[in-house]
Amino acid sequence: MLKIITILTIYLTISSSSLHAENKSIDSKNKILLKEKCSSCHSLKIIYQQRLSKSRWEEIILSMHKHGMTKLTKSDYINIIKYLSKHYNQ
Ligand code: HEC
Repeated sequence: MLKIITILTIYLTISSSSLHAENKSIDSKNKILLKEKCSSCHSLKIIYQQRLSKSRWEEIILSMHKHGMTKLTKSDYINIIKYLSKHYNQ
């Protein structure tokens, strides 16, 4: 019985840490994406100093198109929103 619990504990530890690592790498990919797409016209500081709701971030990004930002692919748009509303939420 003890052996089973030990194996189970090891299994859970490994699987939860790899899940964590995966989340982290998605997060850092999105951060790079944000840098790529959003830092050509202004500093990223202008972004990082904001604390906005998800819907406000959506509006802001759409409004960047009016300033001449090239159209984002749907997945880039979703990933940037995800990143911003996770880290720079109200
Ligand atoms: C083509 C140029 C361009 C790109 C690319 C761009 N922006 Fe902007 N952004 C601007 C301009 C110009 C302003 C200043 C607007 C003003 O002063 O009214 C601005 C201002 C902002 C502001 C300050 C709030 C505001 O509305 O004034 C935020 C936040 C912002 N941008 C976020 C982003 C994000 C997030 C991205 C990437 C998805 C991005 N920007 C990409 C041109 C751009």
